[in-house]
Amino acid sequence: MKALKNLEQIRKQDNESWLHPWESMTDVGAANRTVVQRAEGIHVYDEKGNRLIDGPGGMWCMQIGYGRQEMADAIAQQIMQVPYMNPFSLTSEPSARLAAKLAELAPGDLNHVFLTTGGSTAVDTALRFVHFYNNVKGRPNKKHIISRASAYHGSTYLCSLVTGKDRDRNWFDIGSPTVHFLPSVNPSRRPAGMSVEAFADEKVRDLEQKILELGAENVGAFIAEPIQSSGGVIVPPNGYLRRCWELCRKYEVLYISDEVVTGFGRLGHWFASKDVFGIEPDLITSAKGLTSGYLPLGACLISDRVFAEVSGRRARGATFGHGFTYSGHPVCSVAALKSIEIIEREGILEHVRELGPYFQSRLQELRDIPIVFDVRGMGLVGCVECSVKSIAEDSLAFDSDLGARIDRHCHELGLMVRPIVNQCVFSPPLVITKQEVDQMMDALREGIVRTMHDIEQELGITIA
Ligand SMILES: Cc1ncc(COP(=O)(O)O)c(C=O)c1O
Repeated sequence: MKALKNLEQIRKQDNESWLHPWESMTDVGAANRTVVQRAEGIHVYDEKGNRLIDGPGGMWCMQIGYGRQEMADAIAQQIMQVPYMNPFSLTSEPSARLAAKLAELAPGDLNHVFLTTGGSTAVDTALRFVHFYNNVKGRPNKKHIISRASAYHGSTYLCSLVTGKDRDRNWFDIGSPTVHFLPSVNPSRRPAGMSVEAFADEKVRDLEQKILELGAENVGAFIAEPIQSSGGVIVPPNGYLRRCWELCRKYEVLYISDEVVTGFGRLGHWFASKDVFGIEPDLITSAKGLTSGYLPLGACLISDRVFAEVSGRRARGATFGHGFTYSGHPVCSVAALKSIEIIEREGILEHVRELGPYFQSRLQELRDIPIVFDVRGMGLVGCVECSVKSIAEDSLAFDSDLGARIDRHCHELGLMVRPIVNQCVFSPPLVITKQEVDQMMDALREGIVRTMHDIEQELGITIA
């Protein structure tokens, strides 16, 4: 593919005018981001025409792969038929059909669907529903929310309140007396000598103690990603989520399962809550893979059990006064329906269940590189965490930049990485083949090794 002709102009406009998400305000205006000029299958093409494997799958959202003609056709047709309808007073065929389809795919009795514009608005909806629910039930104090360290739940004000990543909270006035964080559930960071089972017991105890400390009558909800994704792909210990869910049932605390990343096939199932972790949450939030990233859309699913308690006669005349101009957008709904149809028709969930263990085993092989500190993952999501801290005492600064260094080398090797500080996270398009996983892992290995050699040179040491 050819290099972009108008690269300079795009760069100038981008650098000077677009304030990107998570922009470094120190370097703003000089980012010179990769310009994606085309995308097909699992690949994106940069401004020079280089073909790269999309390791992060967009932002954990590219399930069916890029360049699907039938997605374009379905979207275009809907635009010509009904490009928009007012969801406050009207409905449309694709929006209604999508709600019914999500209710069908969701576990248990999660049959009520609030359609939103993305993941943050889905989580916001879930949290506001918890407030609404307890107000209608006459329990105005039952509003405390329990979240966890390293959680990421989105960027609205309410979502950021329950986000437990320190880096994301810095420089904002984030904090609420009704939001509480439990310590990290990362088994790789458990105290030396502690078994994973004992660690799981401790983490479950953390939740119960927090509920008891606040008083169950004051706790509205527990919110948890099945796998903490942008917190570094933290897979909780076996049985942990199920036991937390049982505690929530015991203390009448609503369980919000944030499946914005884990839904729609990332772990080989439509939703991971029940099929992978054995829980039937009260609320599930979803976005990203719902449309395979082709158009923005999110959903908050609510169980019959909970819904029944605040609807009909039990609503006490209340209105759920919450919604967006683009709730249930017909064009986005069509994109979701088409993406789901493709996942079903092509057996993509089965493909992920088959390929996931191979992807994970190839990732684990990277452990033999001396700067690889930890490797984690499940299904088609994974993380390689690197560190030179323990190797060279004065090298702390390298750690903060390791992900970006690896990304630069990998880019030259035809792989796009999502660097998060000293971690590289991966969630490739779900249609990736075994051969492409091999290409990806070979490039990643080489990128990490080259980074290690750079550091050896800079520090004048040998890392063995
Ligand atoms: C678990 C989780 N929840 C919520 C969100 C927010 O979604 P969005 O960026 O679509 O608002 C994200 C985004 O990465 C996420 O990973």
